[in-house]
This record gives sequence, structure tokens and C-alpha cells, in this order.
Amino acid sequence: MQRLEIRSTLRNYEVLIENGLLDHLDSHLDPAVFYVIVADDGIPSIYVDKVATAVPNHVLIRFPAGESNKNLAQFSRIVDIMIRQNVKRDACVIALGGGLTGDLAGFVASVYLRGIRLIHIPTTLIAQIDSCIGGKVGIDTLAGKNMIGSFYPPEKVLIDPETLRTLPERHRMNGMAEMIKYGMIADKDLFYRIKNEDVFSSMDYFIHRSLSIKKRFIEADERDIGIRQSLNFGHTIGHALEAYFRYEDLLHGEAVAIGMATIVSDPSVRAELIACLNKYHLPTENPVPMDKLKEFINRDKKSRKDLLKIVEVSEIGTSVIVKSQFRF
Ligand SMILES: NC(=O)c1ccc[n+]([C@@H]2O[C@H](COP(=O)([O-])OP(=O)(O)OC[C@H]3O[C@@H](n4cnc5c(N)ncnc54)[C@H](O)[C@@H]3O)[C@@H](O)[C@H]2O)c1
Repeated sequence: MQRLEIRSTLRNYEVLIENGLLDHLDSHLDPAVFYVIVADDGIPSIYVDKVATAVPNHVLIRFPAGESNKNLAQFSRIVDIMIRQNVKRDACVIALGGGLTGDLAGFVASVYLRGIRLIHIPTTLIAQIDSCIGGKVGIDTLAGKNMIGSFYPPEKVLIDPETLRTLPERHRMNGMAEMIKYGMIADKDLFYRIKNEDVFSSMDYFIHRSLSIKKRFIEADERDIGIRQSLNFGHTIGHALEAYFRYEDLLHGEAVAIGMATIVSDPSVRAELIACLNKYHLPTENPVPMDKLKEFINRDKKSRKDLLKIVEVSEIGTSVIVKSQFRF
């Protein structure tokens, strides 16, 4: 088992990573506690059953998969069910699924009765290497992604990399874009291991190493006002592309892959990055002319008073945040 301790102002929490962890969940969850298991309807029932069996006192709430459901209507529906089930302050929400479930269920936990307990059991690669730590939870509105939310770290994160076996190939590659990003901004050795080795045969190691990098940034800047923004490498263009395609055609990691490939200017760094993205069948060519993306880039929440914060990587493994006039 691999462990990681995350320090945050609200609470410190532990991340446990182990193949087969879902088969002995009872040693990590308290049978005396009442749990609210939240999972979208795309999470395979084998995982839902394993969690439900481990915690005899629970209510299971499922909601439709897809970004268009990370919204106020689903939030209200989940809260209404919890109120009808008389869920009390000492109950604990289990967010079982990808980043979407983590964001929505985490947001419910952060505001229900002014905040109740929360455990993440992430089952996508994006969730296992990224969204399960850092405390960002929230929902989308018509005005944009993650417009309503809060910082609400879980009390525990339980990761079973074997759940990735059922994840569709496209979603696994989607997660690889964020892993490649970690290597690019902070860990040259990780980058070359991703590029040269079979990541999927020792995923527990790569998950731990990825989370260790995110840990450094979120502990240094929990509220995302400084150095944590390095994690947004490739995201300025990535977010703009996602918005341009109305969050339908491109997955987040695919958009970030294009964003990274577009923003890197050093030819040799770019060649290495593109080779790595190609290995994981991630797109690298921007399909939208820059002048059409401009509007979406300027709307991005990291743009203030015409100054954009751009994360630049001119050497693999190191990054700098530069404030620049819009220059695409
Ligand atoms: N809070 C954060 O820090 C943070 C970070 C990154 C992304 N996010 C958010 O995460 C969301 C995207 O997350 P995602 O990429 O995990 O997508 P997702 O949660 O939408 O999951 C993708 C699909 O995979 C299915 N699925 C989940 N686990 C599975 C498994 N093991 N086997 C088979 N199918 C499975 C889901 O039902 C869904 O259909 C976005 O809403 C994004 O804003 C949040």
C-alpha cells in the first residue's frame, strides 16, 4: 500500500493507494457510521456493490453521468433525498466515481448542514491523480464551469488502481494528459518514465508519484492564488477549447494536451512533449483558429484586466508563471 499525507488548513487527510483496496474496504470505513454513497450511473455496479456491502448503514444516490449533470438541479435532488432520509450531521458522504462525482458529491458534503464528513473513492485516472486531492468541489452553471463551489478537503481518499481496468480507453488516455503535465512542470524523470515505460503495469506507483507533485503545489498555495496555478499548464488554451466545443467534443485531458503542445515554444521540448502525447493517442494539433479562441481565453477566470497568467515550460521538469498581455 502507498500512502500520502496531505496538509490543509481545514483538515489534514490521508490518501491510500492499493491494488484491490475495494475488496477490503471494511478495514477503512467505520460500520457504525451512516454513509451517503453518491455515484453517477456510469460507475460500474461491481464497485458500487463493493462499497455498499462494506457499509451496512447507507443510502445510495445515483445521478446521470455527463458534465451537463454537474448542476444545481442534481445538487438539489441529492440534497432533497438526504433530507427525506433524515441524514444527520455525523453522516459521511462517499463520492464514488470520477472527477464529476467527486465535485458534485463533495460540494453537497461541503454545504449540507453546513458541512458533513466526506471520503473520496476515485475511479477514473483524472480523479485518482488529480481531483481527489486539493479540496476543490463545485458545480457548473449556464455561465460556465465550476461557477459555484468551495474548498472542502475530504477526510480520507481511498484509491484502488484496479478500477481503471474497466475505464474506457479514451478516458484512460484523458487522464494521462494530466500525468504528462506533472512531468512537464515539475519532474523530468517522471516525464521520461511516462514516455518510455509501460505506465499501466505499475499504475499504483505512477498515481502516487503524480499525487506527490500535486501535493507540493496545493500545500504551498491551498487557495490557488499563486504557485498552485502552475498546475494550469496547458489549461488556458485547454479551457478555451472545451468552452468552444461546449464541453461536448473534447475531453478535458485532450483539450489540455492540445493546450500544452500549443503553448510550448522551445522546439526540442515541444518535440519530446508531442512524442509523449502521441504515445498515449492524445491530440496535439489545435483545430480552432486562435482568433476564434481569443474570446474564450479572455473569459477564462485566470484572465484579469487584460493580463493573463500563462504557465511556461522551457525545460522539461521546470515551469514558470508569467503575466502577459494577450498575445495569441
Ligand atoms: N476538483 C478538481 O480538482 C478537479 C480536477 C480535475 C477535474 N475535475 C472535474 O472532473 C470532471 C471530469 O472528471 P473525469 O474525467 O473523471 O470524468 P467523469 O467523472 O465524468 O467520468 C467519466 C466517465 O467514466 C465513468 N466511469 C467512472 N469510473 C469508471 C470506471 N472505473 N470504469 C468505467 N467507467 C467509469 C463515469 O460514469 C463517466 O461516464 C470535470 O467535471 C472536471 O471539472 C475536478
